[in-house]
Amino acid sequence: MNATPSATSTERAAQALTEGGLVLMPTETVYGLAADAANPRAVAAVYEAKGRPSFNPLIAHVADLEMARRIARFDARAEALAARFWPGPLTLVLPVADEAAVCDLARAGFDTVAVRAPAHPMAHALIAALGRPVVAPSANRSGRPSPTTFPDAVEETGAAAAAALDGGPCAVGLESTVVALLDRPRLLRPGAVTRAQIEAVIGPLAEAEDDAKRSPGRLARHYAPNAPVRLEATGPHPGEAWLSFGPGGDGPWNLSPTGELAEAAANLFAYLRGADRTHPVGIAVAPIPHEGLGEAINDRLKRAAGFVG
Ligand code: TXA
Ligand code: MG
Repeated sequence: MNATPSATSTERAAQALTEGGLVLMPTETVYGLAADAANPRAVAAVYEAKGRPSFNPLIAHVADLEMARRIARFDARAEALAARFWPGPLTLVLPVADEAAVCDLARAGFDTVAVRAPAHPMAHALIAALGRPVVAPSANRSGRPSPTTFPDAVEETGAAAAAALDGGPCAVGLESTVVALLDRPRLLRPGAVTRAQIEAVIGPLAEAEDDAKRSPGRLARHYAPNAPVRLEATGPHPGEAWLSFGPGGDGPWNLSPTGELAEAAANLFAYLRGADRTHPVGIAVAPIPHEGLGEAINDRLKRAAGFVG
């Protein structure tokens, strides 16, 4: 174990990856705990630091489409989605093309690989400096909400990192949308790129609910705080924290006073963490509209409340 790192430079961080160390990496979605995807020992250290079951595969982060095409087999649908949404918060699950570049452990033994090109300039600079893909699960310990600020990332898994990049608060605040393009296109995890945006490019998406084995990360209580979470609430019970939403909402944790879903997504995990620290009795959350980005927000909220099996 290393001492908890303070912010370092991209060059220092790339050097740490080369040496098999782990790096706290900001992305536009959430902070990741990064490792060289080709180094099984480094990847093993990521699973250990998170307490993550090794049957749950990691996302390989690439600098650009060219690097992505070296590790995964792109069909016309994958090309179209990458052209439209990369760099950005969309992960594609594709047949693996180079089994050494993203080691077996990182793929949890699957013959598929999850690939994404993050939009955050520091993430891009880090991957480009290393010159090959970087695996990066969200930097939380397994079962906890993803960190969306540098201090939260350091608190979660900083002790295991050899270097840490402070990229400020994450603009999106929710993990990437995960789409599998193996047979029929499937939405494995809703995220910042909405279902409608994806369907506009490649047509209808099949549901992933019957497909839990293929996205092992979709486990119950995956994003859970310690305090019980109560959804669709009209107000807090005594002792509860209150996460309101929209112009009528009151209190210090209004997810978006103007009722904007993008703002609510950006605030969600930070507010859940803050409320969890101060209100062990429970967290009450106002109803969030289900359209657009609301699908991803409600997905994370249901998991936080322990409703999804
Ligand atoms: O926004 C994000 O995607 C963040 C940032 C750091 O990039 N990363 C992230 O990684 O959320 P993680 O490990 O917390 O979530 C990866 C998800 C999991 O649900 C995992 O099961 C799924 O992607 N996944 C990875 N590889 C897969 C594969 N080959 N087939 C199906 N699902 C896969
Ligand atoms: Mg995660």
